[in-house]
Amino acid sequence: MQRKNSPIDTARANLSFDTKRSIMKKIVIAIDGHSSCGKSTMAKQLAREVGYIYVDSGAMYRAVTLFALRAGLFEPDGTIRHAELRARMPEVKVSFRLDEASGLPRTMLNGEDVEEAIRTIEVSNCVSPIATLDFVREAMTSLQQEMGKSKGIVMDGRDIGTAVFPNAELKIFVTASAEVRARRRYDELQAKGMPATFEEILHNVQERDYIDSHREINPLRQAPDALVLDNSTLTIEEQNEWLHYQFKQAVGE
Ligand code: DC
Repeated sequence: MQRKNSPIDTARANLSFDTKRSIMKKIVIAIDGHSSCGKSTMAKQLAREVGYIYVDSGAMYRAVTLFALRAGLFEPDGTIRHAELRARMPEVKVSFRLDEASGLPRTMLNGEDVEEAIRTIEVSNCVSPIATLDFVREAMTSLQQEMGKSKGIVMDGRDIGTAVFPNAELKIFVTASAEVRARRRYDELQAKGMPATFEEILHNVQERDYIDSHREINPLRQAPDALVLDNSTLTIEEQNEWLHYQFKQAVGE
């Protein structure tokens, strides 16, 4: 079935490409990796530099989680009411709208801007089990594939290079040691004045790694043809430089 407007159409239509970029070969860039290793920072930066659309696939799983929370589809003990969520999936419309000021897409749930609402601790704590559900993954995967049809897209997540775009022209698998990732999150929270111990954060990072890598459907895996970036000892500038170089190689510049 041919859909009239893909969810990313609006963002794509609003994006201005300069002449050089519009004639450049357009590719799909898949950036996967562990949580809290800076995937989205590098993906956004690259998308901005090369005039591509950036899609945060984790935001889509977060939007479904927000829907389920609002609809009361979690039992008090945290179990999901699977059958009800499955039946209500057709009501869940996730899309993106380009924010003119930042040039980045904002996550929309049924026409409502939920970009902030999906980043709460409550959603973060409930999203992993939602992301293990087969019917949720199927719905999000087909939406993501639709978004990548016209290429010129950078998508980050856990299964982008393996399940969503197995033919992506550039696949990056980002990692860093759990201690380094926990330290970065700890410093961020400290700077925001949010209380948390380093041990707590390290435990959370390790737990999320475990869930992401051990779920049955499309777990976090390095695609055989992915380039591995361990950014434990890299600065953001060094990382961006490396990524930009890989992009140029991939588009044959
Ligand atoms: O990247 P993030 O923390 O916003 O991702 C939120 C959750 O969604 C996390 O539990 C991993 C999951 N996720 C996934 O299963 N597949 C993706 N492509 C992206 C995220």
